[in-house]
Amino acid sequence: MKNTNTLIVFGHPNPDSFNGAILKTIENKLDEKQYEYISKNLYQLNFNPILTIDDFGRMENSTVADDIALEHADIEWAKNIIFIYPVWWAGQPAIVKGWIDRVLNKGFAYVPQEDGTVKGLLSDKTVMIITTSGSDEQTMVQSGMEDAMKKIMLEGTLGFCGINNMFYQNFYNVLTTTEAEREKILSDVDYLINAL
Ligand SMILES: Cc1cc2nc3c(=O)[nH]c(=O)nc-3n(C[C@H](O)[C@H](O)[C@H](O)COP(=O)(O)O)c2cc1C
Repeated sequence: MKNTNTLIVFGHPNPDSFNGAILKTIENKLDEKQYEYISKNLYQLNFNPILTIDDFGRMENSTVADDIALEHADIEWAKNIIFIYPVWWAGQPAIVKGWIDRVLNKGFAYVPQEDGTVKGLLSDKTVMIITTSGSDEQTMVQSGMEDAMKKIMLEGTLGFCGINNMFYQNFYNVLTTTEAEREKILSDVDYLINAL
């Protein structure tokens, strides 16, 4: 039977934001599809995003902090991982970046090889990234920002962890969209999750 376990990593401080509406759309769709899911609201969980010297020490001893062990268990359980966050300063909100720093650690997400290469350990995962931006599509694409953001997340981060099956969708211009345009975006999100 197909493994449909899904982990959602949500990185917006306000559940009533447009990102929150995207989250609800996705949860509803997963309910409809009868997929099991864990919805992780990093702000509500008060996730500590700061990679410390203690975390480095644990990495050398092949252990992790208790909060990270929980994250690892959820990732191990999941086949699909969905990130939802707004574009902040051409990247992730710090809490999402910190989740990446601390959770996708050496020994769990990747392991250096003796020949100097790195082996990604999460190759069985499917990842979907859904972001929103204030900028419009033309500005994001022509400035090269869209490509840069995709490259950093898809290649520099997830690809490094061995993940090949990835999909990235940014929804543009969300600060000035009409209600009808927002509804259209939410129906596009619903459609994307249908394909998961
Ligand atoms: C700290 C901060 C940084 C931002 N940086 C960018 C940016 O670099 N590019 C961009 O297009 N929009 C940027 N924005 C706009 C957000 O992407 C936008 O507010 C968000 O996508 C709207 O979604 P929401 O209604 O769910 O908050 C930024 C917003 C904030 C608060």
